[in-house]
Amino acid sequence: MKISLSLDKSYSKDLSIMIDALRASSTIITALQKFKTVIPVRDIDKAKILAEKHKAVLAGERGGAKIKGFDTGNSPIDVKNFQEDVLVLTTTNGTRILENMSSNNILIGSFLNSQNVASKALELAENHIEVVMAGVNGNFAIEDFLSAGEIISYLKDGKLDETALAAMMASSNRVEVDNAVLNSNSASGLQALGLGGDVEFCLKRNIYNTVPIYKDGIIKILK
Ligand code: MLT
Repeated sequence: MKISLSLDKSYSKDLSIMIDALRASSTIITALQKFKTVIPVRDIDKAKILAEKHKAVLAGERGGAKIKGFDTGNSPIDVKNFQEDVLVLTTTNGTRILENMSSNNILIGSFLNSQNVASKALELAENHIEVVMAGVNGNFAIEDFLSAGEIISYLKDGKLDETALAAMMASSNRVEVDNAVLNSNSASGLQALGLGGDVEFCLKRNIYNTVPIYKDGIIKILK
């Protein structure tokens, strides 16, 4: 099995795992504990229209902050306060990356579900698992690299490309990973908005078995 790591863009036709550890992936995984489906949308106005149509909870951020008039931000902690069938979510990076992906199977991963997303990927993929770091506006983000590395550590029997190998090696020491993520640019931005609790929550390891799968514009739990 080929295991590759890419940033911002997806190249695999087989299986991809989208990672936006702070926070879109973590919010989606957590939301699926309470919601049946999550609809990720890039555009704010489209998100509002879809939320009305589906009588959904409307969640989203711009610059990390909750969007005015929305029910909640892109917050894994806040989203647990709601329970409906559908969550419509718009974020700066994670939802944009998902909309641009076209692999046969698109899964969503973070620190919260590393082990299980890796094991489901191995079940579903034919020959290529691609881990896609969402990054920030096309740029590298250390939290996605290290989260990718933890997922790849469960795929280490595959044929890792050099970037995947580097991520796995970088993520071997949990204390160092936690420190790097807590001091990352993304975390600093969230801490400045009073959202440091989300950063700490997103660093929990394997608290959910849930593996989200994105298909035809909708995210559900992979059964
Ligand atoms: C995003 O999708 O850009 C992020 O998840 C931003 C955030 O922390 O809300």
